[in-house]
Amino acid sequence: MKQVIEKLSKEKSAQWPDFFKIISQDLEILEENLVVKLPAKSKLLKEIISYIFLSGGKRLRPAISLLIAKATGGVKDKHIILSEITELIHTASLIHDDIIDSAKLRRGNETINSLWNNKISVIAGDFLFGQASVKLGELENTEIVKIYANVLSDLCDGEIEQFSLLFNPDITLEKYIGKSTSKTASLFAACCKASALINNQPIEIVNSCNQYGLSLGIAFQIVDDILDFTSDSKESGKDVFSDLKNGLITAPTLFALNSSNERAKQIRILIESRFNNNENDFDKALRLVFELGGCEQAKQLALNYIENAKESLSFIKNPELKDYLLAIPETITKKIK
Ligand code: FPP
Ligand code: MG
Repeated sequence: MKQVIEKLSKEKSAQWPDFFKIISQDLEILEENLVVKLPAKSKLLKEIISYIFLSGGKRLRPAISLLIAKATGGVKDKHIILSEITELIHTASLIHDDIIDSAKLRRGNETINSLWNNKISVIAGDFLFGQASVKLGELENTEIVKIYANVLSDLCDGEIEQFSLLFNPDITLEKYIGKSTSKTASLFAACCKASALINNQPIEIVNSCNQYGLSLGIAFQIVDDILDFTSDSKESGKDVFSDLKNGLITAPTLFALNSSNERAKQIRILIESRFNNNENDFDKALRLVFELGGCEQAKQLALNYIENAKESLSFIKNPELKDYLLAIPETITKKIK
């Protein structure tokens, strides 16, 4: 394990994307705080923490939150703590998500559940949630505590809603967006909103920041759902085709199911039978999603949310910072363009 961590540590020192450079010093502090400063006493837990924070992750949420801080009055110490809280919650929820999905790969590396086991993974995730709570206290801001407590509830709510909708071909777009908002966009929105709150911004600006995060987060989830169909494991660093296989009806399947084409009924039947009637049922359903244009329509939906995100930045007057924040939606959609 020591060698794996050393190797990952070297890979991690790779360059940040361009628009991250303006906040690179803050991101370096964040990295150190995550990789070596979390106060775990157990040697095993220390090892898991180093592994998880060195094995990839774009730090997208912290970066967005720090850029919002820059655009609303500057980065303060509390913004670094906020970034930590955000990344801790995000990482912990992925550890739990990988247990639920029995995922073998995350960010191109073995998941904690496959390297160790489910029991250890649950508790390691809980430790990160615990640390996020400690750091929330350090912010001494009850409004932000409430926002993040709601995010934790939303994550669980979204995940349970996802369970209850498995293999259900009647899922509506509204439910899909609602579930995606809970499990993904609520954290994006929180880290933007809280960043503006730390800078004591007026309510209209706080709301615009919240809206930016919300739209970006929904777009992010739709893109993630498209990539499950269109990328390979090497590119995405995750298991692919796993959503539909596990009965998860995401945007591409949803659009295919609602296509006016006669063959939409075939997907419905295949999903309702849980791909259990014939050996090639799943491949057939997968092909139908592509043929009925599910991915293209999902892409259009993601782009609509990206436009919303961009529009909510109209309050930013500094052109350089605005460009950086406008570049984030571009990186999210780059892979589906
Ligand atoms: C990844 O989605 C998962 C999430 C965004 C959230 C998962 C949340 C939980 C498991 C609940 C967290 C628990 C507590 C206590 C707050 P995905 O499966 O669509 O993405 P992936 O393709 O990257 O796996
Ligand atoms: Mg998953």
